[in-house]
Amino acid sequence: MKSLKKVELHLHLEGAAPPAFIRALAAEKHQDIGHIFDERGAYSYNGFNEFLRVYEAATSVLTAPRDYARLVTEVLGNCAEEGAIYAEVFVSPEFCGGADLTAWRDYLAAMEEAAAEAERSGITSRAILTCIRHFGPERARKTAICAAETSGSWVTGFGIGGAESAGELSDFAWAFDCAREAGLGLTAHAGEWRGPGSVRDALALGVTRIGHGIRAIEDAALLSDIAARGVTLEVCPGSNIALGIVPGWPAHPIARLADAGVRVTVSTDDPPFFHTTLSQEYQRLADAFGWAEAEFGQMNLWAVEAAFCDETTRTRLR
Ligand code: ADE
Ligand code: ZN
Repeated sequence: MKSLKKVELHLHLEGAAPPAFIRALAAEKHQDIGHIFDERGAYSYNGFNEFLRVYEAATSVLTAPRDYARLVTEVLGNCAEEGAIYAEVFVSPEFCGGADLTAWRDYLAAMEEAAAEAERSGITSRAILTCIRHFGPERARKTAICAAETSGSWVTGFGIGGAESAGELSDFAWAFDCAREAGLGLTAHAGEWRGPGSVRDALALGVTRIGHGIRAIEDAALLSDIAARGVTLEVCPGSNIALGIVPGWPAHPIARLADAGVRVTVSTDDPPFFHTTLSQEYQRLADAFGWAEAEFGQMNLWAVEAAFCDETTRTRLR
């Protein structure tokens, strides 16, 4: 599966950091974050809330633009090894200088340089600036300003992740309006932990893509609406299974979503946290549903159509 060319739309930059990378950086900085690893050195957590805390603890060793540049090099290198020719990474200015615009510009410049270098070795990338739902709408507003002010560079999208249980998506309407006016593509995590209503709330923000969105399967009218609008779901099956949202591969709704005419794509979310890789996700889908090149080719075409990139790049990826 590694040789199949892939487009990945849903990958959290910090969530893609290999444990060894984070451990090495912690050692360099004399920071003790040993509690987030198990005895084999993997990330260790129990349930989604603890996952978020471990994620944030791992991120705490990334304290300078250079750290983020190294992370971009590492993550895009791993993507390329998995056969990805294009990846969009969620980046949170909250973790890069606290969504302060001056600091953010420094972090972005460092990451952009690393991404340009990675592009020379075959992988194109773009960044989706992401606010964190459980940090609240005020902080999201600052993230949206960072996104709007740096729109059109490596930054081409805006989104929201974090605990879906916190607040309502409508609380973040100002941030999404600000990002849309700046010409950014929009996506929101929804329908992962909450039901179909959360997917409707995401659509009301004007998104063209939904992070996860799998619980739309519970509502036939919503499914038809998503299919008719051509909204694309960034499905991360291994993440859903690792977090216990879906009991196993055969039960995953991705195949039923595709059968309902919904544009589904495949991504890894936070691969080392969920003990997965992009090619492993494809292999598991092939095993569970008999999918092969035709199905994967269609999904990757949908991913290209939904990507937050310019037409020239899109044509090159098709
Ligand atoms: N941030 C990183 N991974 C996430 C996920 N699966 N859901 C919501 N926020 C996240
Ligand atoms: Zn995610």
